[in-house]
Amino acid sequence: MKIIIKKTDETTFPGDALILPLSEEDNIRPYKEIDEKLNGLLKKIIDSGEFSGKQNEISLLHTGGKIKPLRVLLIGLGKRNEVTRDKMRQAGGKACSYLRNLNVRDVALSTRTITSLKLMPADFAEGGLLSLYRFEKYKKEELTGGLKSITILSSKDLKKEMKWTKAAAAATHLARDLVNTPSNDMTPSVLVKYAQSLEKVSIRVIERNRAEKLGLGAYLSVARGSAEPPKFIVITYKKKNIPPIALIGKSITFDSGGISLKPARGMELMKYDMAGGAAVLGVMKAASEMDLPLHIIAVLPATENLPGGRASKPGDVVRTMEGKSIEIISTDAEGRLALADAIEYVKKFKPSAIIDIATLTGACSIALGNEAIAMMGNDDSLMRKIEKASEDTGERVWQMPLFDEYKDYIKSDIADLKNSSGRSGSLVTSGYFLKEFAGNTSWVHLDIAGTAWTGKERPYIPVGATGSGVRLLISFLRNLQK
Ligand code: BES
Ligand code: MN
Ligand code: ZN
Repeated sequence: MKIIIKKTDETTFPGDALILPLSEEDNIRPYKEIDEKLNGLLKKIIDSGEFSGKQNEISLLHTGGKIKPLRVLLIGLGKRNEVTRDKMRQAGGKACSYLRNLNVRDVALSTRTITSLKLMPADFAEGGLLSLYRFEKYKKEELTGGLKSITILSSKDLKKEMKWTKAAAAATHLARDLVNTPSNDMTPSVLVKYAQSLEKVSIRVIERNRAEKLGLGAYLSVARGSAEPPKFIVITYKKKNIPPIALIGKSITFDSGGISLKPARGMELMKYDMAGGAAVLGVMKAASEMDLPLHIIAVLPATENLPGGRASKPGDVVRTMEGKSIEIISTDAEGRLALADAIEYVKKFKPSAIIDIATLTGACSIALGNEAIAMMGNDDSLMRKIEKASEDTGERVWQMPLFDEYKDYIKSDIADLKNSSGRSGSLVTSGYFLKEFAGNTSWVHLDIAGTAWTGKERPYIPVGATGSGVRLLISFLRNLQK
């Protein structure tokens, strides 16, 4: 969908539909002149109670030639003093996906109420773009139709903000595509191809041999059961000579659990265990597109986790790059093994902060459902910055504790650490495990196991991969340079 910014009068827009956002208190006031030209049709809809401005409520009417746009779509914003940036996105998502399903092509957005609420048309457009995403690579017949353009009726200079919006949506769509793609077509080697398609970055791929020499034993132990070669992908984006921000994305392209095999039911979803890596690739794409004046090192420790004749077994002890030994209690707690080595690896670049993003625990969605990313870390000021980005983007995060007492949970009888302590506290003990590797470096862990996939459609998120964390991290990085 193309975004056009142009100041024309609503009633003269020569397209398929005019979108009029309305809050509950607005009645028809902001659009009085338009309604007069429509002989009071809008007021009739409101007076009849068919439309009251409730959040995401929709009403559509044909204009019958009384004004230039063929249709008017009313979209509810809810109570005036409760409208937020995210409700703006939701309204955009609802309106655009509704119109798309009618096979409408060119639409316009009136910005009167949005401006009077001191909110941003860019957020409405972002919700629109995000809602229109479809994954149809594997369908014989491509779904036809679709919104071609949205014209934002404004005389303000919205160009810069719209550029960010477009970059963030495109990055989210890339992450969604990667995650939705099944694991037979989304192997570690395919992730390498995508990394190599990024512009303005340099790529280094550490193959199994080299990884052995570097001592990435915990990461490599995950790859033992798979015939797909593991790829430890390092992406460098350097626009400024400062210590880097390190982004690490869990990139298990399929997590069967390994010898600690997962139940068959729902296992097909474990293609989404590389959603952290996909998010990081999306963020790097946006960073380079927007020429962020930053230094970023991204690491995707990619591999499959499969059972096999050479696979790691419960009870095995492996050694990390850092030197710590880990007893593998469950081969299904593989994410932290790969991340431990990735964290140690990025530390050699002396990063100012490490952010890892991972579908790490089933317990994450037990605790928070699909509504929030679980956040843990060792640096409060870094976590406050993530929270700021969360407010900006509507990607909710919720902080979980890393009490010292959790240290006992991951003590092993024969090694320095064990990778699983069972169900009790498993969301936070996984975080604590990573904390042992972050050491003194400022670090945040984001568990997106609950948010990276949705089984239910949301106002601007279709069913399937969500792109969780992409807009959050882009906003975090953008705020750094401000
Ligand atoms: N990838 C899974 C976590 C997961 C589960 C993500 C469901 C998304 C949906 C992870 O590797 C895993 O299997 N974690 C185990 C850890 C346990 C063995 C300590 C879990 O959470 O059950
Ligand atoms: Mn697992
Ligand atoms: Zn996993």
